[in-house]
Amino acid sequence: MNKKIIITGGTSGIGLACAKYLIEKKYEVIITGRNKENLEKAMQELQNKAYGYVSDTSKLNEIDNLVHVIEKNHGNIDGLFINAGIFKSVSFENTTESLFDETMNINFKGAFFTIQKFLPLLTIGSSIVLNTSIAVFKAFPNTSVYTASKAALESLAQVLNLELASRKIRVNIVSPGVTHTPIQQKSGMTEEAINNLLNHFATTSPIGRVVLPEDIAPIVAFLVSEASSVLRNEKIIIDGGTTL
Ligand SMILES: NC(=O)c1ccc[n+]([C@@H]2O[C@H](COP(=O)([O-])OP(=O)(O)OC[C@H]3O[C@@H](n4cnc5c(N)ncnc54)[C@H](OP(=O)(O)O)[C@@H]3O)[C@@H](O)[C@H]2O)c1
Repeated sequence: MNKKIIITGGTSGIGLACAKYLIEKKYEVIITGRNKENLEKAMQELQNKAYGYVSDTSKLNEIDNLVHVIEKNHGNIDGLFINAGIFKSVSFENTTESLFDETMNINFKGAFFTIQKFLPLLTIGSSIVLNTSIAVFKAFPNTSVYTASKAALESLAQVLNLELASRKIRVNIVSPGVTHTPIQQKSGMTEEAINNLLNHFATTSPIGRVVLPEDIAPIVAFLVSEASSVLRNEKIIIDGGTTL
């Protein structure tokens, strides 16, 4: 039977590229997103070879509903790619309580409770992959709450690797560098600032280009596969060497 993987935030960017790749590798792929139109577009792009559900990861009742529907329609699950996330470029001084709450609720609280609520459906030996960021270990201005939300995820991974060990559930991390996805357009940065950022990373990177979502997909596939079954709390930095 094909392994079943849930990708939160699978309607765009990195999540969508991972969905495509895992479908090619014969996984049963379930994607989520909070926006119905984006989900429909993604399903078209995936030629309806995935299963898609609208679910806002920042709302616990929507996670509960998602778990319920997935249990009914798919039964047990073999892997979770915790990928849904937002980034807004705002200085520390200008970070409002509402941006703080929005970012933490999606990037950290949503991730925390998605894992917790899916636990009963996870098979023994399941793989959980968290999408964090190089921002956790390399500081960038105007990312304070985003960086904190991703650092919180990395701390959580350590504890879960101990608490879930009896069920052989493993938690590993992908830590992408600046990756060209729609997240930049949504960040509040100007077009010029985005171009400068992408150019900077393309020209200073040892690989001579910016990282693309398609670069991340095979690494996520490795982490959800049996090939990585002895890895615990491994963090794979996917930045083309920009932080060397
Ligand atoms: N791109 C980078 O440079 C980069 C670098 C390091 C880490 N990352 C991380 O990679 C992950 C994916 O980012 P991306 O670059 O692929 O961005 P993206 O293209 O904007 O995709 C974000 C995905 O998350 C979903 N999402 C956002 N808020 C959600 C919510 N409340 N509930 C459910 N789904 C939600 C979006 O769905 P909707 O369209 O429905 O909102 C979308 O599918 C994020 O966690 C991000 O922090 C990205």
